[in-house]
Amino acid sequence: MFTITANTRRAKPEDAGAISRVHEASWKHAYAGLVPYAALARMISRRDVNWWANAIRKSTLILVVEMDGEIVGYVTLGPNRVSTFPHEGEIYEIYLRPEYQGVGLGAKLFADAKLELKRRSYKGVVVWVLSDNDHAIGFYQNAGGRAIANGSEHFDDKKLCKTAFAWD
Ligand SMILES: CC(C)(COP(=O)(O)OP(=O)(O)OC[C@H]1O[C@@H](n2cnc3c(N)ncnc32)[C@H](O)[C@@H]1OP(=O)(O)O)[C@@H](O)C(=O)NCCC(=O)NCCS
Repeated sequence: MFTITANTRRAKPEDAGAISRVHEASWKHAYAGLVPYAALARMISRRDVNWWANAIRKSTLILVVEMDGEIVGYVTLGPNRVSTFPHEGEIYEIYLRPEYQGVGLGAKLFADAKLELKRRSYKGVVVWVLSDNDHAIGFYQNAGGRAIANGSEHFDDKKLCKTAFAWD
């Protein structure tokens, strides 16, 4: 019998390659057919191993989740970027490898990210999600998030709507 353990921890510089691979697999899976191909390819190639190593060196707050020692997901977090929101913290990105989605790891990573923001005295959390990302919207609604604002973003010539979910 195997016992599989999931562990969340702060990213280290040597994790850059693994995070970059999670980013590529998860973004292709989540956004192919939604974000135009060329824009998606550009966003993925920009986030190569050097980009992630640099982000970790600059102390960007990144947590990774490991399954039996392998990094299968990451979350980035910090101060909320919209000054009119009362929520002080923001989860910028949360992504798992497609084959590890739907087994509770997202809930663990999300809870640990919220805890990390609370530890740093940020009151309230906001997350932006593309409004057509049905799976993530369902996840945030299930986690008790409240839709508080709408926005939009251009990806080449395509405009996509996005929604902000918040937790007080
Ligand atoms: C979004 C994401 C992080 C969620 O993680 P996950 O591991 O798939 O979700 P979990 O298995 O931890 O689900 C946690 C809970 O949410 C529920 N849930 C998950 N997706 C749901 C959905 N679409 N609708 C309703 N409930 C959902 C689960 O049933 C579970 O409920 P429970 O705690 O009552 O059992 C993950 O699927 C992912 O990486 N998706 C692709 C990238 C992405 O879109 N990221 C968000 C960008 S803003």
